[in-house]
Amino acid sequence: MTTKIIAHRGASKFAPENTMPAFQLAYEMNAEGIETDVQLTKDNVPVLIHDEHVKRTTNGVGYIKDLKYEQLKQLDAGSWFHHNYVGTTIVSLEEFLKWAISKPLYLNIELKNNKIEYRHIESIVYEMLQHYQLLNRTTISTFNPNSVKRMKNLFDDVETAFLTSKRDKNLVEYASKIGANAIHIKYRLLNPLLVKMSHKKKMPVRVYTVNRIRQMMYCYQQNCDGIITDIPNKAITARELHLA
Ligand code: G3P
Ligand code: MG
Repeated sequence: MTTKIIAHRGASKFAPENTMPAFQLAYEMNAEGIETDVQLTKDNVPVLIHDEHVKRTTNGVGYIKDLKYEQLKQLDAGSWFHHNYVGTTIVSLEEFLKWAISKPLYLNIELKNNKIEYRHIESIVYEMLQHYQLLNRTTISTFNPNSVKRMKNLFDDVETAFLTSKRDKNLVEYASKIGANAIHIKYRLLNPLLVKMSHKKKMPVRVYTVNRIRQMMYCYQQNCDGIITDIPNKAITARELHLA
């Protein structure tokens, strides 16, 4: 099995996270997948942004949940990163999926519903993936165990993943019990036994956020199913070294 390289918020080391330039760059760097974060606007449009608030990655203020999509679209989501990206906008999930359709990319859509419980975010995202026929190459992940359980009850034809940064010797059992199909873990949790237990249950293990060569090599040695990285080109070079 070859470990998939998944660009974290796009190629976010080189372009503003969760924007089209970051996704396009990840694709051009030959990443096999893209991870992105979803929040819901006041008018229930799924948009790709990591924080609940627009302050860090745009020139605006306010919570996503309090702003309408049209208001969010006026914001500049690129100049905080570099002046070359002035005019870059927040992307809706729909725009992203339309772009992804023609590319052979694996998608990891992370629901950002662990701080704010956006109502119906699971079905809104699911239905959009279904509409664009992307369910079979997508994993929907979340840190929120109740959301994993809701997904388990709502649909069974898309892979779901439980995301965690907390050490727990029963993690695989727990993730399986709540109905997750995969685990997405913080790098420091990775160990051979965890991978073995997870693979025994046919649950893929993907690891975030893996940016150092040494960490990448360890993930490859441990047969992780995916690494989620800000630097996909570096991960590809490291994987070539590993496989040589
Ligand atoms: O999905 C993996 C990773 O993105 C989870 O953490 O905070 O970067 O969204 P975060
Ligand atoms: Mg994320």
